[in-house]
Amino acid sequence: MKILAFETSCDETSVAVVEDGKKILSNIISTQIDIHKEFGGVVPEIASRHHIENILPVFTEALEKANCELSDIDYIAVTNTPGLIGSLLVGLMFAKSLSYANNIPLLPVNHINGHIFSSFIDNDVKLPAISLVVSGGHTNLYYIYEENGKIITDLLGETLDDAVGETYDKIARILGLDYPGGPHIDKLSINGEDILKIKKPKVDGYNFSFSGIKTFITNYVNNQKMKGNAISKEDIAKSLQEIIVNVLYDKILMAVKEKDVKTILVAGGVSANKRLREKFSEFTNIKTDKNEQIAVHFPKMEYCTDNAAMIGVAAYYDLKNNSQVELGKQYDVDAISTK
Ligand code: KG4
Ligand code: ZN
Repeated sequence: MKILAFETSCDETSVAVVEDGKKILSNIISTQIDIHKEFGGVVPEIASRHHIENILPVFTEALEKANCELSDIDYIAVTNTPGLIGSLLVGLMFAKSLSYANNIPLLPVNHINGHIFSSFIDNDVKLPAISLVVSGGHTNLYYIYEENGKIITDLLGETLDDAVGETYDKIARILGLDYPGGPHIDKLSINGEDILKIKKPKVDGYNFSFSGIKTFITNYVNNQKMKGNAISKEDIAKSLQEIIVNVLYDKILMAVKEKDVKTILVAGGVSANKRLREKFSEFTNIKTDKNEQIAVHFPKMEYCTDNAAMIGVAAYYDLKNNSQVELGKQYDVDAISTK
C-alpha cells in the first residue's frame, strides 16, 4: 500500500511516498531556514508564499524519486493540524485537489502524531513505550500501548509555557546566534562548562516548564553585560544543555518507574541534540520487570525535523486503527492552527 504524504505546517515543504507504513520510497524536504534566518524566526506570511512556490516541484520530485505515478498511490495523507494556518492551508488545499481530481482517498494527519510515528521508521518498536516529542512548538510526553489491536497514545504531560526548541531558539537569539538556535547551541556546548548550574523547575507530574530557565539565563547575560564582564557563549550553551537534558531525563525516569515501559522514543527537531542522545542512552542500563533491557530509539536525522515521511507513517497507523476521517467527509476537513 502506497501513501503519498504532504507536510507544510511550518517552514518545511515536504512530500514523501511511504510503502506499507515502513518503507520510505522518497522524502523530499525543501527548507526555508535561510529565508527566515534574517528575521530571527519563521515569518508566517513569507512561509505560506514559499510553500505555494515549492509544493509543485517538491511533489513532482517525490513521485519521480519513488518511481511512482499517481495511479500507483492508494491514499493521500496531509498534515492539517497543528501549525501556522497559512502554511497548513497550502498543503491541505493541494492535497485535497489532488485527491478529488484523481479519486484517491484523503487522510488528514496530526503533525505531533507524525513526530511520534517517525520513531517507527527503521525501528521495530516494542510497546508499551514512552514517547517524548520535543520540537520548536511542543514538548509532549505520551504513553503508547496496544489495546484490542489498536495503538493508543495517551498524553501524560506537556509544557505549561515554552517548548524546548523555543527555549533553545530564544537563548540563541540572546547570544546573537542564527535561527534555528538549537544546532548552534548544541555545537557550542561541546567546549563549555556548566557554570550556571541552573536549578530544576518544580513542576508536578509529567508536565514541564522552561520559561524560568529562559528568564534565569536572560538575567545572567544582562547582569554580566551591565558589569562590563565578558560572557562565554560556550558556557551558557553547556549550562542550558545540562538543565534541559536533565529535566527531560528525570520525567522519563519517573514514567519508567511508574509504568510498564519497554521502549523510549524521542522525536521532533530537538531529538537531533547530541547531549540528549548521549544522556538518554543511559536508559538502556535499566531493566524492565521481565529483566529485559529498555530500548531507546531516536529517528534518523532526516526524520527528526519536519518531514512528510513521518506523516505518511502516522497515516498508515491511523488507517490500521480505523481512526481516519470517514470517506466522503474528507473534503470537510479544515486546517486548524492549534490542537
Ligand atoms: O520539529 P521541528 O523541525 O519543527 C517544529 O515542529 O517545531 O523542530 C525545530 C526545533 C527548533 O526549535 C530547533 O532549534 C530545534 O528543533 N533543534 C535543536 C537541534 N536541532 C534542531 N535543538 C537542540 N539541539 C539540536 N541539535
Ligand atoms: Zn514538527
